[in-house]
Amino acid sequence: MSTCLIAPSILSANFAKLGEEVDNVLAAGADWVHFDVMDNHYVPNLTIGPMVCQALRKHGVTAPIDVHLMVEPVDRIVPDFAEAGASIISFHPEASRHVHRTIQLIKSHGCKAGLVLNPATPVDVLDWVLDDLDLVLLMSVNPGFGGQAFIHSTLEKLRAVRRKIDATGKDIRLEIDGGVKADNIGEIAAAGADAFVAGSAIFNAPDYADVIRRMRAAVAA
Ligand code: DX5
Ligand code: ZN
Repeated sequence: MSTCLIAPSILSANFAKLGEEVDNVLAAGADWVHFDVMDNHYVPNLTIGPMVCQALRKHGVTAPIDVHLMVEPVDRIVPDFAEAGASIISFHPEASRHVHRTIQLIKSHGCKAGLVLNPATPVDVLDWVLDDLDLVLLMSVNPGFGGQAFIHSTLEKLRAVRRKIDATGKDIRLEIDGGVKADNIGEIAAAGADAFVAGSAIFNAPDYADVIRRMRAAVAA
């Protein structure tokens, strides 16, 4: 397994030509497609749903689709995303009444399950469910918008979650989301992340391959 997964957030892609954008970013070396789902309720923004996920699959996207649900309630949208071709489904504990149940629901539909921690969410929320997770997604901005600045205290939080994951001895990904750029990804990787969401840093750049290459080089340095 690659130790550095780059997951471009299509939130910053050109939605008028989304299929082409996803093809281009994958051809440029991306590993996953990060798919931000916002409901104008759990977060103050409205984006895309299962139909768009399904459209990308029909378009021919075979890479893992990493669905980040910022919706409340979570459970009733999970089967729709699984059917639409999601590979990983992550959700916020604040948006689910029964976190353990939602994790099992995601897995029962054949997807990998992730839990998302907001900047102010304590890491203890992982304590009784970490063994069941495939991924922990740490927010380094408040969810809702692309293009925000990386919150520096997340580095310490990354180290704390990395220690918890290592203690399980299991293969659980630690993904970071928000404000990730080529010039801060090195310290983020050093703090323990092994999967990196980047929206504006990639899609606002003229050459996707160049940014992804610089990101990988910074992680490896
Ligand atoms: C924010 C989203 C992020 C966001 C990242 O709620 O979850 O995935 O699009 O965008 P950048 O990389 O621009 O901070
Ligand atoms: Zn996201």
